Amino acid sequence: MGSISYPVYLLDRDEAETKRLNNQHRFLVDLSNLIHPSIPRDLTAVADIGTGTGVWLEDVAKVLPNKSVYLHGFDISSDQFPRGHRIQRPGQKSIPLSAHDALHPFPAEHRGRYDLVHIRLLTAGLKQADYTRVLANARALLKPNGWIQWEEVDHTAFCTDATPELAAITRLRECVIEAMLKLGLWPFAPQRVYDEISANGFADVVRETYTTAGKEHMRPIAKKWVAGVMRALVPPSMVAIGQAEDTTQARGIVEGLVREFEAHCESAMALVNFGVTVGKRVD
Ligand SMILES: C[S@@+](CC[C@H](N)C(=O)[O-])C[C@H]1O[C@@H](n2cnc3c(N)ncnc32)[C@H](O)[C@@H]1O
Repeated sequence: MGSISYPVYLLDRDEAETKRLNNQHRFLVDLSNLIHPSIPRDLTAVADIGTGTGVWLEDVAKVLPNKSVYLHGFDISSDQFPRGHRIQRPGQKSIPLSAHDALHPFPAEHRGRYDLVHIRLLTAGLKQADYTRVLANARALLKPNGWIQWEEVDHTAFCTDATPELAAITRLRECVIEAMLKLGLWPFAPQRVYDEISANGFADVVRETYTTAGKEHMRPIAKKWVAGVMRALVPPSMVAIGQAEDTTQARGIVEGLVREFEAHCESAMALVNFGVTVGKRVD
């Protein structure tokens, strides 16, 4: 296993999870933006922390006007990196990916090097106090006036637009929140990220909350995405809080609940709150 050490992390890193992360990327970009509009596009170096499969960097490489932009991905685990720890790009330089725990300072050669640092969905692995450390290490990667873009889902907000709420949804959501709190993780991530960025050496801070509410064309994909997140997150959560003896039992229970959710979404819209905060490093 290509990792440094494992603190608590609620998700798997197997083939199914790799596929889910790549599909999730398309959903989140559809819902929001790859790069927030307030960030200039003339970027020369971009880093992605908690890069997972590196899918965000792969798309960034395609849209930036500067084709020689330097891109680098970091993750505590290399388990989901492509072979050789590089993203291959036909006719262009490959993108290197490195194993690094963002709770620790990055190697000197990376500090002060980037004009955009991106972080997305670290919430399944961060305790409340960790946000401050990760942000300080991310900030150190930036050049003066470089930008951070940190994106997180609000795990307290999974629901649909139907009332009264389906009991299966309440149970699925509450399992995740209870497990995260029990494990010392922090389910209310978007607010935390905004508070940290606002208080720790950034200017021009903007927070956006992207929601599926009212976006009819996203109805099928929102249902599929929430169902996928629930299938991935709830079984380990149920085991952590003692609602199932093991993952196999938990998966059986969760499958029943998720199917109820999916049937309910024939008429209801799955609501998702995706929080994005950007800010510019000031010294
Ligand atoms: C849900 S995945 C998201 C991956 C990617 N950011 C994306 O949006 O597709 C979370 C990633 O964060 C990584 N991670 C968790 N804790 C970390 C840490 N302390 N330092 C660096 N990466 C971490 C995990 O290994 C995993 O690859």
